[in-house]
Amino acid sequence: MNVPFCRVDCSANELKYIQEVLASGWLTTASKTFEFEKRFGAAVGGKHAIAVNSCTAALHLALEAIGIGPGDEVLVPTLTFTATAEVVRYLGADLVFVDIEYGTGLLTPEIVEHALQIHPGIKAVVVVHFGGQAANMPAILDVCRPRGVRVVEDAAHAFPTRCGGRMIGSWGDITCFSFYANKTITTGEGGMLVSSDEALAKRARVMRLHGIDRDIWNRFTASSPSWEYDVVAPGFKYNLPDLAAAVGLAQLERAYEFRDQRQAVAQRYLADLAGLPGVDLPRIACALEDHSWHFFWLVLQPEARLSRDAFIEGLIAREIGFSVHYKPLHRMTYYRDRYLLRPADFPNAERHWRGCVSLPLYPGMTDAELDYVVRAVRELLSPA
Ligand SMILES: Cc1ncc(COP(=O)(O)O)c(C=O)c1O
Repeated sequence: MNVPFCRVDCSANELKYIQEVLASGWLTTASKTFEFEKRFGAAVGGKHAIAVNSCTAALHLALEAIGIGPGDEVLVPTLTFTATAEVVRYLGADLVFVDIEYGTGLLTPEIVEHALQIHPGIKAVVVVHFGGQAANMPAILDVCRPRGVRVVEDAAHAFPTRCGGRMIGSWGDITCFSFYANKTITTGEGGMLVSSDEALAKRARVMRLHGIDRDIWNRFTASSPSWEYDVVAPGFKYNLPDLAAAVGLAQLERAYEFRDQRQAVAQRYLADLAGLPGVDLPRIACALEDHSWHFFWLVLQPEARLSRDAFIEGLIAREIGFSVHYKPLHRMTYYRDRYLLRPADFPNAERHWRGCVSLPLYPGMTDAELDYVVRAVRELLSPA
């Protein structure tokens, strides 16, 4: 048997909505994108939703909108994908990397508070909802808001995710989602910036499209069409085309169906892989229903039967897909050398990284596939 790491399900209205776009004769940003924005914003409880062509673009626009620039410092956890950090450098600002909580992979209010005490100049914090479980947003906001520190959420993994009874997307100053091919819902490539702050949303909307004060659709189709437009800043080309939004709309309709199926897989892993010696499972600090279950990882401790790398070899031999989330950024040449980062300063991320492997997890994973993976993992990691 061959079990992929992820498998996309585009079997419902995706094709129908794409055909509608093709028939309309207008392929780039237009009514499908606006509908996707409206529905996604409503789904996460954010007043303004701005569709873009990646979460990386959303993060860039978010930090630009809050005024991050050269000389500023932005706090980012080391256990994340490089996109979370690289956007800070796009703007000429600098990074302050911090460790995460072992078990959840998340920032905690204590970690944030400690970093803000040591680096009082930090202007913004980027919170990553690692793997789809929310960080403690109310408590992190309580640490940041009195100090005037802005909070941007990297929710690339976290749709639909809830925290304290509210959706991720309704907490921080700006929240950024990803619809990359392997995410919980996808548009192939795509993202969404969500904010309830009028001024931030306006800036992001303008900067999404060249710094032009009206977007393309308005220019050509508003009730008083105007050929004239102004450029207020050297903006970017980050808009999401309708072809992609068509897929997003169809995916959004099934977001909770997908989430429930992901949860069922994760629950099997939690139940069937518990108690293997030297194997840590993720710590779930929220209700299972509040988690989007983007990925599920194991951490192999030194006393586990196999090293992480040997375990991966075992998965490859059995044709089981896997991933590693993540080699922390303090280990990446660019960040390590620029900020003189040392592994010893990030003990929790190090412990996670040295043993972490993510297992196959996708909606529509069959019982036979799940049985096969569980059996293989148990075989590889049970005492001889
Ligand atoms: C935590 C995190 N942030 C940001 C991104 C970037 O997302 P995108 O590929 O949509 O730009 C990713 C992508 O995997 C991610 O995992």
